[in-house]
Amino acid sequence: MSFTVAIDGPAAAGKGTISKAVAAHFGFAHLDTGLLYRAVGAKVLHGADPLEAAQTLEPIDLDGEHLRTPEVAQAASKVAVDADVRAALVAFQRQFAARGDGAVLDGRDIGTVICPSADVKLFVTARAEKRAQRRLDELNGKGMGLAFADVLADVEARDKRDSERATAPLKPAEDAVLLDTSDLTAEQAIARAIEIVQAARG
Ligand code: DC
Repeated sequence: MSFTVAIDGPAAAGKGTISKAVAAHFGFAHLDTGLLYRAVGAKVLHGADPLEAAQTLEPIDLDGEHLRTPEVAQAASKVAVDADVRAALVAFQRQFAARGDGAVLDGRDIGTVICPSADVKLFVTARAEKRAQRRLDELNGKGMGLAFADVLADVEARDKRDSERATAPLKPAEDAVLLDTSDLTAEQAIARAIEIVQAARG
């Protein structure tokens, strides 16, 4: 039986770090679903049609540092408003969730739309300033030289668009466990997430 962990939350809340660690701990596969939207967004920045880009996406498109820029993040958030683009990406995500031993999927709508019957649902949040600071450290660690105010504005604009869209908006599933990482170290947040998943595994 496959075991599915759904991890949702706003931009830069720590979903990626937590998802990778949970997947490694339990030996599950991990899919960062934001990469699907980022890959479509990156193609649109190069002139592609959003729906065609979503329908023809290939695993190779999900690779690469170029998907990690703020420009691509914004483009991803914009294409993610389109219900047809979202629909084109559903099957791939559900197939991933159903595979083998277990899977961790992180995104915005995993617990609400993609895997509504996931075995565990986590909603990972943190105050916007904390999230912006972490994202700033991460991007500037790669030599991007960004300003805090710009990163904060970027994160807040995406959260607003992601939460207010009509289709699959960012929100906690009713049965999600909330995990606020504002005042936790990465190690503490990971330990808490592993505890929650372990409890659900029984
Ligand atoms: O998780 P991320 O920051 O890489 O996601 C980039 C954008 O993609 C995000 O702002 C909204 C969109 N997204 C989405 O709408 N649904 C998902 N499951 C994952 C990401």
